[in-house]
Amino acid sequence: MSDANAARLGAGARILVTGGAGFIGSAYVRDVLARADGTRITVLDKLTYAGNRSNLAAVEADPEQASRLRFVQGDIAEPGTVGPLVADVDAVVNFAAESHVDRSILDPEAFLRTGVIGVHVLLESVRAASFARTARGDAPVRYVAEGRSTETDRLDPRSPYSAAKAAGELLVQSYVVTHGVDAVVTRGSNTYGPFHHPEKLIPLFVTNAIDDLELPMYGDGLQQRDWLFVTDHAGAIDHVLRHGASGETYNVPGSAEMTNRDVIAALLKPWSLVRTVPDRPGHDRRYALDGTKLAALGWRNRTSFADGLAATIDWFRANEPWWRATKSGDWDAYYERQYGSRLAAGQAALRPGSSSGAGSAPGAAPAIARDPAG
Ligand code: TYD
Repeated sequence: MSDANAARLGAGARILVTGGAGFIGSAYVRDVLARADGTRITVLDKLTYAGNRSNLAAVEADPEQASRLRFVQGDIAEPGTVGPLVADVDAVVNFAAESHVDRSILDPEAFLRTGVIGVHVLLESVRAASFARTARGDAPVRYVAEGRSTETDRLDPRSPYSAAKAAGELLVQSYVVTHGVDAVVTRGSNTYGPFHHPEKLIPLFVTNAIDDLELPMYGDGLQQRDWLFVTDHAGAIDHVLRHGASGETYNVPGSAEMTNRDVIAALLKPWSLVRTVPDRPGHDRRYALDGTKLAALGWRNRTSFADGLAATIDWFRANEPWWRATKSGDWDAYYERQYGSRLAAGQAALRPGSSSGAGSAPGAAPAIARDPAG
């Protein structure tokens, strides 16, 4: 089965990428089209706040790549939109997702529409087309475990965001068994990199730090995440699409397990910017995936956290118009709702290994202040 997929998805394949204008989806589109192997991609994206047509600007500016890209604005929960697109491709890779835990606490319904109804509509279309392979490659289903979580650990959703992810994933499994749909599932670790919406920790703190704004650290900042560079994540999903066994789930681990404090310290900004603010409800203490199964399939991450963070900071420094635009519109209302009272109740955070809130994070030259070219 997997060899057949690798062959069928070779040169000239047609792939539908749902959510292909979002953070991880657009990285996937850019990377696959840059291979110049004749692969043709249709992007279906609703262009909510998380999807941004300009994420595909580099592709659209290259005449050869642009000739292999078709962009459709639409909703994966609309059968009339999805059906004809699925009927026209060899595979579907689904990145469409509402992607932020904090927003799922403020507004859960959108998460159910995209994560559950949207996945159901995709699966029904794939079933009707009967030949398309589906890969569900999106942000993580949350669970907490001792050690690293394996694919067979019990799902333990702790926010509306992760509950919607879990439901979508279980729907995929049911379509494999009931209808013989050829589908694989990936669960990604915390992902970061260029084009990341500033609602998430790393881009929020990088962009706030560029502007010398406060950095709102939830609780004690000792929560742990395993950070995965976006091109590694996109590459892993493509690898699973081609080589994964139908019905199987594959974790995509990161390259660096760190506390949030460690991440903040790596930005090398004055620690006095960091505010410890009231915690997120249901905040997962740790999220770390075991990648043994994906490694056995032949995939290894290529980017260290140091290299990935440097590339990310350089990108944000060089692309201020992009992120300033994402921090406009309803951003101020979101920021006020999410952080207004938190920051008002916040306190100066003690820096690592210190009993005083003053001073700088350990390190040499401030990375954020660095000249992107230098
Ligand atoms: P986030 O980027 O929202 O990813 P996730 O919730 O999917 O792990 O958050 C990463 C970690 O950073 C998480 O422990 C929550 C924390 N965090 C803060 O401390 N402050 C913030 O403003 C944000 C957005 C996150």
